[in-house]
Amino acid sequence: MLAYIWAEDSEHHIGINGGLPWHLPNDLAYFKRQTLGHPMIMGKRTFDSFPTLLPGRLHVVLTHSIEFEKEYADNDQVVVVHDEDDLRKWLEEHDSEMTFVIGGASLFEMFKDDVDLLYVTKIKGKFEADTTMPKLEMDRFALKCEEKGMTDERNKYQHTFFVYERK
Ligand SMILES: NC(=O)c1ccc[n+]([C@@H]2O[C@H](COP(=O)([O-])OP(=O)(O)OC[C@H]3O[C@@H](n4cnc5c(N)ncnc54)[C@H](OP(=O)(O)O)[C@@H]3O)[C@@H](O)[C@H]2O)c1
Repeated sequence: MLAYIWAEDSEHHIGINGGLPWHLPNDLAYFKRQTLGHPMIMGKRTFDSFPTLLPGRLHVVLTHSIEFEKEYADNDQVVVVHDEDDLRKWLEEHDSEMTFVIGGASLFEMFKDDVDLLYVTKIKGKFEADTTMPKLEMDRFALKCEEKGMTDERNKYQHTFFVYERK
């Protein structure tokens, strides 16, 4: 089972300068709750956006870099793959597990015909950004649930958590 998880603004923006365009701790907590215990597939720039390895999750990282592979060779929390074929092979071998694709844009583009579940946090507003979510064929998905996030002093932007499943 393959799932996407991401957060986007009203214009489908997802990133800026290697990080997120917003600060929304509620969404980070949601991301943790959903992904904990599951492998996460990501591009190297998304990997670099985290200050440390995220506990309790296998990081499957797509990169051309051999140096990066060497750096993490002895780390059993990181699997390095160098091209799409290798990544698809890894996925076939881990077919039974719930696996999250967590970005960025090229990874979300790569698996758009394969993904079964979409976890998207929609954040109200337009943020400065340099990375945009690729267009998905949303008519092929049905809304499974929708939950409004709480706004407060630390979570200033209105946001809603949506889950869609492939029809
Ligand atoms: N809002 C959200 O939910 C969300 C989610 C994820 C990311 N983001 C944001 O999006 C931005 C990062 O996303 P991004 O799209 O720029 O980058 P990305 O997809 O995370 O990483 C791109 C890198 O992945 C590697 N890669 C991609 N395709 C490859 C292929 N076919 N073969 C080998 N390597 C491949 C390359 O690494 P090498 O150059 O090392 O070869 C490439 O430079 C950041 O700002 C991040 O914070 C936001």
